[in-house]
Amino acid sequence: MSEKRIEWNSNFAFMMAMIGSAVGLGNIWRFPNVLYSNGGGSFMIPYIVSLFLLGISFVLVEYAVGFRFKKSIGRILFSISKKLEPIAWFIVLIVFLITTYYVCVVGWDLIYVVLSFTKAWGANPDTFFASNVLQATDSISGIFQIVPIVLASVFAIWFMIWFIVKRDLNDGIGNVSKILLPTLCLMVVIIVVFSLTLPGASIGYTQIFTPDWNALTNLNVWLAAFGQIVFSLSLGMAIAMTYASYLPEKSRLIDSAVTVAFSNSAFEVFNSIGIFSILGFMALSTKIPFDQLVTEGTGLAFVVFPQVFNTMGPMGSIIGPLFFICILFAGITSAIALLEVVTYAISEKFNIERKRTVTVICIVGFLISTMFATGIGSTILGAFDAFLNNFALLLGILIECIIFGWIYDFNKLIETLNKDSRIKVGKTWKAVIKYILPICIAVLWIQGVYSTIT
Ligand code: PHE
Repeated sequence: MSEKRIEWNSNFAFMMAMIGSAVGLGNIWRFPNVLYSNGGGSFMIPYIVSLFLLGISFVLVEYAVGFRFKKSIGRILFSISKKLEPIAWFIVLIVFLITTYYVCVVGWDLIYVVLSFTKAWGANPDTFFASNVLQATDSISGIFQIVPIVLASVFAIWFMIWFIVKRDLNDGIGNVSKILLPTLCLMVVIIVVFSLTLPGASIGYTQIFTPDWNALTNLNVWLAAFGQIVFSLSLGMAIAMTYASYLPEKSRLIDSAVTVAFSNSAFEVFNSIGIFSILGFMALSTKIPFDQLVTEGTGLAFVVFPQVFNTMGPMGSIIGPLFFICILFAGITSAIALLEVVTYAISEKFNIERKRTVTVICIVGFLISTMFATGIGSTILGAFDAFLNNFALLLGILIECIIFGWIYDFNKLIETLNKDSRIKVGKTWKAVIKYILPICIAVLWIQGVYSTIT
């Protein structure tokens, strides 16, 4: 049964969904660490350069392609050349796998939302996380044990995103994004304002404003900035392409791409003021050196932060839940975007109704997520995360730069973008997509291989 072509019913819904897809775990727990390890204040220079030169440039390709073709990635590549279709399915597969592990991490977070009200992780959040959530164990039989609470929370997240994506675009993704994203921003403002009042906050936030100018001559710092932009804006995974394909005629593509990219970065920079202030408070009250506290990922969220909330006293029972709900909302709006890419591609290719497609994807996805959720699977999850960061996203970008920059007629994309936008693109943009971005990716890979072998 083929469906009638759907469109966003307002530009606001589209913008909230796009910003929601970008703002995710990476903004909350990845950015502060990347900023700190790469020169603090001076990191903002390579970061802003990467944002404009690479991030916005690339996201424009996805906007232009999605908007021009008004199809899913499979059909788009098929219509450029039949031979390219398998590449689209490779990207869809990667997006699906990202969804399975992303949902798993959001599921862990859901457990912490519940625990945080009473600080039920106890006096030692590190051992709690290792033995109750990850079920890390030395015994072989223990490795395969599945913790019911983890299963239930991973199921709950799959259920939520199934429930959102199975509905029509505007009822589901549109409405949910319009509620979750503004609420998320409000909660982050509360956390940041509160964190600035904590004793020791300045130990933390001054780090963001203390530049290490020498870092600017280090190539790795520039690559880290590029890597953060790629991850944070969810580039190379056809998300913007999918969402932009639902835009009505007469949309100002360039203007909205710039707004989305800018909002995503503003969110992570602002949020990091809160994270650093809280870590500064922790450093002051526990005498643990600041740099030992600035970890990232699950270590920061599920170990260091619970320790902080323990130290905070009664306020910890308010800020704790707020913090974990922020991660939950940020995670859900990114997970629905990932699920939408897979759903749209499959339902369009095989002409299967949206609801049915989403249901099948979610069942299979849940089964795969359970393998990531505990025991040995969580080690695989770590490896997959590294594969995603260092390879998959960049490969997606490279593939799209080659197909749309070299195989497809690039001038058509320029024409599409410039039609109704106030900001215009031209030759410089073309040069970035055809040459500069692929070169940056090659350098990143070479550097990655080099640092692994040395
Ligand atoms: N941008 C998302 C975040 O910041 C992560 C993501 C990356 C999602 C790549 C999809 C694809 O958490």
